[in-house]
Amino acid sequence: MTDTAANPDANSAIKPATRPNANFTPRVFSGIQPSGGLTLGNYLGALKRFAEMQGEAYQTVYCMVDLHAITVWQNPADLRKNTRELCAGFIASGIDPEQSILINQSQVPEHAQLAWIFNCVARMGWMQRMTQFKDKAGKNTQNVSLGLFAYPALMAADILIYHATHVPVGEDQKQHLELTRDVAIKFNHDYGVDFFPITEPVIEGAATRVMSLRDGSKKMSKSDPSDMSRINLTDDADAIAQKIRKAKTDPDPLPETLDGLADRPEARNLVNIYAALADMTAEAVVAEYAGQQFGAFKPALADLAVARLSPISTEMARLMNDQAEIDRILSRGAERAREITAPILKKTYDIVGMVPPVV
Ligand code: TYM
Repeated sequence: MTDTAANPDANSAIKPATRPNANFTPRVFSGIQPSGGLTLGNYLGALKRFAEMQGEAYQTVYCMVDLHAITVWQNPADLRKNTRELCAGFIASGIDPEQSILINQSQVPEHAQLAWIFNCVARMGWMQRMTQFKDKAGKNTQNVSLGLFAYPALMAADILIYHATHVPVGEDQKQHLELTRDVAIKFNHDYGVDFFPITEPVIEGAATRVMSLRDGSKKMSKSDPSDMSRINLTDDADAIAQKIRKAKTDPDPLPETLDGLADRPEARNLVNIYAALADMTAEAVVAEYAGQQFGAFKPALADLAVARLSPISTEMARLMNDQAEIDRILSRGAERAREITAPILKKTYDIVGMVPPVV
């Protein structure tokens, strides 16, 4: 034991990461909640990036976080259906279950086991600062589940049980990833080890925060009561086109440069969506459409969105016809995942001082 390990509670000031993750296998982990319905925000902020990060540079692990989903009430039959539909969404978006490890969280028990350890590392004050908890709990803080409060410790465990070095997410998850880094730093510090990596958030691309089509100040979300506020990955071509046609904008034409969109959040959102779908920068989109009205831009965006998203919804529907295959993919994913997670949990227990079983 080191001196600092003697009284870790005294360690209130968390030091910034000083060490690169050079000793760790480059590994990507990310997750999505199977709480019903994938949106264009999930696609551009997460799924599309997940598919792009597959390849030689990283081992990739992607997860349906069913244990996170039940932090708010889920009807059991819906949860099962939504988990399978999300798996179909991952595959239809280009995630190859051979190349990546594709799992649902509850089939890999080490996530929840490490989360308990992290519940004992993370501090109440850190959790109380989480804006997502404040947003979700609202005025109801006494009545929400304890799981909703502890949610970020499970998220840290999801990532660190793989020693993941990179986590692609949308902008809204940034604070949770900072907490993940704090948990890793504090664990390493308290136990005097160099065991967990200091994970890098990957928040990149033109659409890291896709906004509602009805209100440019609100995030596009599956929980928005208005279906017109979002594009769902299961929407057909007509619905996509109609939602884009009716999206809120302003009467001005598109400006010459991006600066001209600074106070026009709805217009900026549509430009970002176009850029992300077309794999262009927002600057290039504005340069191409400068001076044109939204009457011309919206149909072009609708065509592009339909061309990119329709094949995904068609493929999701096809995959959902073979649930047995989806279940097989998830079982196989869990088996592969546990080859990574079981030794990391075993070592964690050892560091913490748990007596191991005799084998
Ligand atoms: P979730 O299920 O809310 O969202 C999944 C992913 O989609 C991104 N996203 C968006 N990106 C851009 N614009 C939007 N409007 C938008 N809406 C959603 C999210 O940023 C996220 O990347 N806590 C996580 C799930 C999670 C996780 C993890 C993620 C659990 N464990 C470990 C990474 C690593 C969540 O609730 O995401």
